[in-house]
Amino acid sequence: MRLLFVGDVVGGLGRRTLAALLPGLRERHRPDFVVVNGENAAGGVGITERTARELLGLGVDALTLGNHAFRHTEVYPFLDREERIVRPANYPRASPGRGITVLERDGMALGVINLSGTLFVAAARSPFAEVDAALSDLRGRTTHVLVDMHAEATSEKVAMGWHLDGRVTACVGTHTHVPTADARVLPGGTAYCTDVGMTGPRGGVIGVKRELALERFLTMTNVRFDTSTEDPWINAVLVEAGPDGRATAIEQILAPADLA
Ligand SMILES: [Fe+2]
Ligand SMILES: [Fe+2]
Repeated sequence: MRLLFVGDVVGGLGRRTLAALLPGLRERHRPDFVVVNGENAAGGVGITERTARELLGLGVDALTLGNHAFRHTEVYPFLDREERIVRPANYPRASPGRGITVLERDGMALGVINLSGTLFVAAARSPFAEVDAALSDLRGRTTHVLVDMHAEATSEKVAMGWHLDGRVTACVGTHTHVPTADARVLPGGTAYCTDVGMTGPRGGVIGVKRELALERFLTMTNVRFDTSTEDPWINAVLVEAGPDGRATAIEQILAPADLA
């Protein structure tokens, strides 16, 4: 089983970057499943039904979210009815959407779990207890499991990797928009990367036009943020796993897009 997981797609430029590079990545790596974090897909913050449909229309199998999941109220009914989108499972149970989904293809069933960290981002319950409950829920229904741990603190993500080692196929981090250099298969057979990074403009400050982000840092005034348009890259990981659900390899894919 090959799984391509793409880090936070930021704005229209991120969507165009994914659209431009995905066909080549599919041809080269032949992924069975493509899962994309879409929490910044709409104008750099949150996701809308239109942008979610656009990403799914590229042949993406599922979308994960994060702390910006509920930014746009218009997407709530879509989160409720579209099974291919997950928001953090450890958000309030009655809130829109779901935190777990199962994708099926060619006799394989991939469980996808989205979690939120608790350091510098809010969650309703511990992601550690939540993922244990989610895995019990998925028992017997999946051959492989992917966890997107959307969190700010590297410590919380590293801890989650060890918590899940040998219990899921892949535990990958998102949210910081900066890829970490620690992709590896943990000893129990879980592919791990602290942060996959961002698919969008590397020329800004984690997606925001750099002059606007700098103005806010320099003046501490309320500067309106816009998405940067410079230097689009895709940040992703490719995971390979056996039929037993254990990962055998994880490779980072960090590539610029020529959209001219
Ligand atoms: Fe993000
Ligand atoms: Fe985030």
